[in-house]
Amino acid sequence: MKKKAFQTWAVHAGEDLKNNFGSLSVPVFSASVFAFSDADEGAALHNYEKEGFFYGRLGNPTQQALEKAVAELEGGECAYALASGMAAVSAAILSNVRSGDHIIAPDSMYSTTTLFLGEIGERYGIETTFVNAEDSENYARAIRENTKVLWMETPSNPTLQITDIRRVSETAKTNGAVSIIDNTFATPFNQRPLELGADMTVHSATKYLGGHSDLTAGVLTGNREMVQRARQTIGKLYGGNISPQVAWLVLRGIKTLALRMERHNHNAFAIAHMLNDHPLVSEVFYPGLEGHKNHEIAKSQMNGFGGMISFDVGTAEAGKKLVNSLELCTLATSLGGVESIVQHSASMTHATLSPAERASAGISDGLIRLSVGIEDKEDLVEDLRQALQKI
Ligand SMILES: Cc1ncc(COP(=O)(O)O)c(C=O)c1O
Repeated sequence: MKKKAFQTWAVHAGEDLKNNFGSLSVPVFSASVFAFSDADEGAALHNYEKEGFFYGRLGNPTQQALEKAVAELEGGECAYALASGMAAVSAAILSNVRSGDHIIAPDSMYSTTTLFLGEIGERYGIETTFVNAEDSENYARAIRENTKVLWMETPSNPTLQITDIRRVSETAKTNGAVSIIDNTFATPFNQRPLELGADMTVHSATKYLGGHSDLTAGVLTGNREMVQRARQTIGKLYGGNISPQVAWLVLRGIKTLALRMERHNHNAFAIAHMLNDHPLVSEVFYPGLEGHKNHEIAKSQMNGFGGMISFDVGTAEAGKKLVNSLELCTLATSLGGVESIVQHSASMTHATLSPAERASAGISDGLIRLSVGIEDKEDLVEDLRQALQKI
């Protein structure tokens, strides 16, 4: 099909009516083993001289349909689907570094990625310099001879920091490193980093791509060579492949991605403004607000500002009171689903960090992270207003 608008493309991405008996829904291929027609074909498949399937850990037609869909939506040559967002994060990083190499990453981002980088530093001697990613020049300043990966997460979890993708990707290119972006918060509907010069993207498909809080998955995208390296080294050896059933669920989620993201963008934009005007909220972090530190950069690289908001209510006590008083927004630790989800970062996702690490990651005691769902905007505003009255 000739490439059309994102909304159209998301509905049809990965579709293969001809080879699937006209089935509108890509079939779930449960098989873990695929037969060879003869010994020569078996050899060609094992040597990757022929495209196809022979063993579940190494790929499956349903998985391939999902990979095709995400690659098309991200504007990448190739994609690789894995069992979780962290499987995608770790495969993207490990397939680009070896012992003695150096990584540059934001000092404020998804805390498990921070922990992962600490772990490979300690265990394998792959050191990371954490920088304030709001200033893209900090990446250039931290470059060393052995720097191999410039990692970005924009907008970041949970402080919604924005990094200049074009500038940092350029820094990577001129220094012989690769730029990789965690695009989970934005999704390809709002941001396509590969078109801005980045080498790879990763997603926790558990979030917006799946979109219904009913699966755990991850995807990475990029050029053929990089994606195949991730698949054939880290994927094959560490064994973090996605299951065909989950791949099918993500594909189904993607069909409504555009529709959901339009609503997430719309609701979050309105709620961010309401919170910004509220006397009990000291600060709101949302890239769509004119007062956001990198609003201009966000405007230049995003098509919409997304469904994630963070805001500060001053103290841990007020934060806990707020989340306990919400009636419609659910207190839970994930994001990106159709339902609104709220969390108190210091006592939940970032509880594993030390107070000093939390402070340097910008996680204040009163910080609330809100994943704005697709419910009615006024119902959400009312729920937040009544809960704020109780703090
Ligand atoms: C930005 C970001 N990246 C990666 C992950 C990890 O994804 P998963 O939980 O699917 O492993 C998360 C999870 O919250 C996330 O928010």
